[in-house]
Amino acid sequence: MNITHQLQALLEQAVQTATGQSELIVLENPRHEGFGDYATPIAMQLAKKLGQNPREIAQQIMENIPDNTIIEKAEIAGPGFLNITLAPEIVSESLREFAAEKPLVPVRKKRIEVEFASPNVAKPLHFGHFRGLILGESLARLLRHSGHEVLTDNFVGDWGTQFGKLIVAIRKWGDKKTIDHNPIEELVRLYRKFHQEAEHDAELEKQGAEEFRKMEVEHDAENLELWKWIVGESLKDFFVVTDRLDAHFDEMRGESFYEKMLPTVLEKLRTSGIGSTGEAGALVVEFGDESKLPTMIFQKSDGATLYQTRDLAKIIFYDSEGFDEMIYVVGNEQNLHFRQVFETARRLGYQGAWTHAGHGLVRLPEGKMSARAGTVISLSEVFDEAYKRAFASLIEHNSEIIGKEREDLAEILAIGALKFNDLGQNRKTDILFDWEAMLDFNGYSGPFIQYSAVRCASILRKATDHCPPVKGESKGVLSFEHEAELSLAKKILRFSDVVLEAAERLEPHVLAEYLFQLAGEYNSFYAKCPVLKADEPERTTRLFLTQKTAETLTHGLYLLGIKTPKQM
Ligand code: ARG
Repeated sequence: MNITHQLQALLEQAVQTATGQSELIVLENPRHEGFGDYATPIAMQLAKKLGQNPREIAQQIMENIPDNTIIEKAEIAGPGFLNITLAPEIVSESLREFAAEKPLVPVRKKRIEVEFASPNVAKPLHFGHFRGLILGESLARLLRHSGHEVLTDNFVGDWGTQFGKLIVAIRKWGDKKTIDHNPIEELVRLYRKFHQEAEHDAELEKQGAEEFRKMEVEHDAENLELWKWIVGESLKDFFVVTDRLDAHFDEMRGESFYEKMLPTVLEKLRTSGIGSTGEAGALVVEFGDESKLPTMIFQKSDGATLYQTRDLAKIIFYDSEGFDEMIYVVGNEQNLHFRQVFETARRLGYQGAWTHAGHGLVRLPEGKMSARAGTVISLSEVFDEAYKRAFASLIEHNSEIIGKEREDLAEILAIGALKFNDLGQNRKTDILFDWEAMLDFNGYSGPFIQYSAVRCASILRKATDHCPPVKGESKGVLSFEHEAELSLAKKILRFSDVVLEAAERLEPHVLAEYLFQLAGEYNSFYAKCPVLKADEPERTTRLFLTQKTAETLTHGLYLLGIKTPKQM
């Protein structure tokens, strides 16, 4: 049990004895220094509930805290906050046992599906896919670390009328050699051409719909073969990007995966009465006025299914697989779509917890990388630019690392910078793509945290060059002589709480901000407390703190999907 949980248990007991109430204790991080290590508003909550004075309740709670070795000091502050300061001994004991990599034990282990990326095939991955890829991977890692069983999945857009159109376009205007030479680019061109031509040739749309119908209803072998090839080519491109981003999928259940389940889904909608017949015989769900959701079509009048039909099938499928939660990492703009699909599933009697973890857009700065009208900026272009800049800044910083190692390092820094720029900010809001800030080795950036971790590791290396290694398990009391040591130790011990909070809120920036603070805390400790040159027993304590900081920064970065280089 970590300190926070032990403290919660103590306070719960105190509240029980003092007021007879069983309450869950929320422990916050006090905003200002000098207000202890934790603060809880429990007395104020109870005061409202019981109609009593909050400071008096706080007093009673305080008096009833059982004897323990955890709390150094409890104080009442302001309107009735209870501020708790930890005993240094418990901090030192907990730090000994602390291992940043160790997954946590959740109160209830859940099976969670995390969907991200979900690109539409036959189009290159573009800038709009960037945030989802980064966020999804980090959320999966955070939830796993929180002790849950996580399955990552990719709802590839690999089914739908657009394939009928593409097939028509390939047959009409496609040239095998050109397509083979650069498949995705050529497919994008053909798809565009289809739409241009369709503007003055209404027949084309019909032909497209017909080719898709043949695939879907008649399982037309020729069309299916062409379709398979298109999907395969697109995924080749996709994996180049995900490899570079170190993003992983346990499953690749694209829209086509749900195809065979669609008749059952449509049947369910019909027989349950949740679906009704709309215009021209389409199958629709009307949500009623109070829900404020617009009607959603689940089957067109020509029998074709839609994107949402497959999304609904997916929920039903995962329900049958025994999943407790589904998380959709998809742009904010699809929020209405998800609310409609979730509401439909709920009305059909499904009860999973489905969350649309929506994210904002990335705004590009003016200049080189700005979105020129009509051009799609590919992700590889962005990666290459980041790499070039990271490489240049290594030269500028006179890094002694050269050759292939410098190239590898530049790549790790570039991807780290891109990811941190994203994960360091609130996922819900739009963010700006700021090259300077993102690669600022002294700012709120990936490279800064990476550097902080590398520096700790290098201090440890220097120490072991002269002395026997400091081992995590080594016994002996860590005594904190200096305020900065204790403060750093406490900061490290917050790690698990922070990860849990980030995972619960599905907001990696909570962890990113913490890592930035931890790096800063280490820096101020280091400025005040010499490490290598200190005498014993301080030296051991400080090296131990350095080691735990390195582990925490490194694993924290890992949970964001960011690698820590060995040297910088
Ligand atoms: N393929 C879709 C698109 O690119 C995104 C899919 C999102 N996921 C989902 N389950 N609907 O717009």
